[in-house]
Amino acid sequence: MKRILVAYATREGHTEAIADHIAERLLLQGHRVTTMNVADADPFEDGPNRFDCAIFAASIHMGKHEPEMVTFVQAHLRELGETPAAFLSVSLSETTAEDPSAPDDKRQKAKRDVAHAIEHFIEETGWVPSRTKPIAGALAYTRYGFIVRFMMKQIARAAGASTDTSCDHVYTNWRVLDAFVDELVATAALSRDTLGSPLPDESPRRRFVKTAGVD
Ligand SMILES: Cc1cc2nc3c(=O)[nH]c(=O)nc-3n(C[C@H](O)[C@H](O)[C@H](O)COP(=O)(O)O)c2cc1C
Repeated sequence: MKRILVAYATREGHTEAIADHIAERLLLQGHRVTTMNVADADPFEDGPNRFDCAIFAASIHMGKHEPEMVTFVQAHLRELGETPAAFLSVSLSETTAEDPSAPDDKRQKAKRDVAHAIEHFIEETGWVPSRTKPIAGALAYTRYGFIVRFMMKQIARAAGASTDTSCDHVYTNWRVLDAFVDELVATAALSRDTLGSPLPDESPRRRFVKTAGVD
């Protein structure tokens, strides 16, 4: 059993769905998992060794990762330096990058766009995650207002994604994501906390935090 943090930042909710998917899988494997939105809670209030490893996920809007994740990381550089952690970058560009039917020049450009956004995130925060992984996101047409829906339809057309605005479209490759997470967790060493004392009681401060699994 390992203690794992799954923390995310989202605009339209798909990165939260990714975090929940990861958490459910890790729970089934017998780990103790804490899931939280970094806009709502501080996972490091009890210190860095509370977790054996951490997974951070944030979506991209207008070429940049969620500002809540940037702020969170900037405020926790010390703790992050002491916790093996991966960063998942969720975007529509990655959908194009992974699309085998997309023309090669479009796929290469999409790949570069994602790499550039991740580089910018690292430069802006000063945090170099143990691993980074681009993840294809979703088109949440039913959640957009009129103007954003119209704009995203044009972007989707150019990206080769669906222009059917009557429903949402998920492009995340769950199998690839699962394999990445499984490998990350398998190679994470147990921290002093897991080998030693049990977790402290949940405080009222953690009302936004979901912790579940074996103690
Ligand atoms: C207004 C808006 C701007 C976006 N800008 C980008 C972008 O610059 N690059 C990109 O690859 N994806 C972009 N996307 C796609 C999102 O990254 C994708 O929908 C992702 O799944 C959103 O995740 P979330 O629901 O967790 O916020 C944009 C989406 C919206 C609605």
